[in-house]
Amino acid sequence: MNVVYIGLGEMGGRMAVHIKKAGYNLIVYNRTLSKAKRFAKKYDCDYVDSIPAACGNGRVIMTCLRNDKVVKNVMSQILKYSRPGTTIIDNSTTNYELAQKLYRKAKKKKINFIDAPVTGAEKGAEKGDLATSVGGDYKAFKKVEKILSTYSSTVTYMGPSGHGQLTKITNLMISFNIKQGLIEGLEFANAFGIDRSKLLRVLLNGSSYSFQAAKHADNFLKNKLKDRIITSLTKKDALIAVKNIKKKKLRLQSTELFAKIINK
Ligand SMILES: NC(=O)c1ccc[n+]([C@@H]2O[C@H](COP(=O)([O-])OP(=O)(O)OC[C@H]3O[C@@H](n4cnc5c(N)ncnc54)[C@H](OP(=O)(O)O)[C@@H]3O)[C@@H](O)[C@H]2O)c1
Repeated sequence: MNVVYIGLGEMGGRMAVHIKKAGYNLIVYNRTLSKAKRFAKKYDCDYVDSIPAACGNGRVIMTCLRNDKVVKNVMSQILKYSRPGTTIIDNSTTNYELAQKLYRKAKKKKINFIDAPVTGAEKGAEKGDLATSVGGDYKAFKKVEKILSTYSSTVTYMGPSGHGQLTKITNLMISFNIKQGLIEGLEFANAFGIDRSKLLRVLLNGSSYSFQAAKHADNFLKNKLKDRIITSLTKKDALIAVKNIKKKKLRLQSTELFAKIINK
């Protein structure tokens, strides 16, 4: 089966490798074409030099793109050039309302649109043990579930369109608070001159153990936690969370404060 992957960034560039290794006929495209060429050479697959060409080649088109704006732009082209019966799977993290809008647009053209954001960071993408949450039509999902499984330890169907993204944002909100806890804990320990290496040993073996603590252990030791933990993607994701907190008129103070601190 032909599978087109668009967006060979930190995540997509690693996830696509598993799709190829699982035996699918992978075709890649990336805005910076040199990345697609390099990937195709390294993993012995084809690349195309435009989105229309990508759409002509695949019944399954997957994307992993930077943010809502990019997803919106790229999807408008994908929807324009894809044939009825195509399934689009978006692995990017976006607001759920964008996913629902794209689902509705796709439906009008008899195209399936599935939101399938992932969690587990670059390391999870490298190892192929991401946790993928899926929203969209169940029948369409079942047809592509095996492709998602190539890079995931779990693939969970969450319900209708947008529910994959809502699950991902929930996961992010929880991890924001863990991240902020780590940043503040480190600042506190530094102020009292606590040995970071010994402290890390305690944290990683005690009740503060978490995916984030393990992932950022090296940054913790180098006292570079804040710089490395707060990336432009974290800022983007925090704004998505706050938008939806406001939409539901909730008061979720830790997440709201975290978003304020990192986006100031
Ligand atoms: N990094 C993580 O730990 C992580 C974990 C889970 C989910 N995610 C989500 O996965 C998505 C991708 O993250 P990433 O870390 O892979 O980001 P990334 O390394 O910055 O890759 C972004 C991809 O989007 C493409 N892109 C950016 N602007 C574009 C434009 N204007 N038109 C067309 N393509 C464009 C990039 O192409 P170029 O190569 O040409 O720039 C690249 O292929 C994001 O939605 C992120 O929130 C990331």
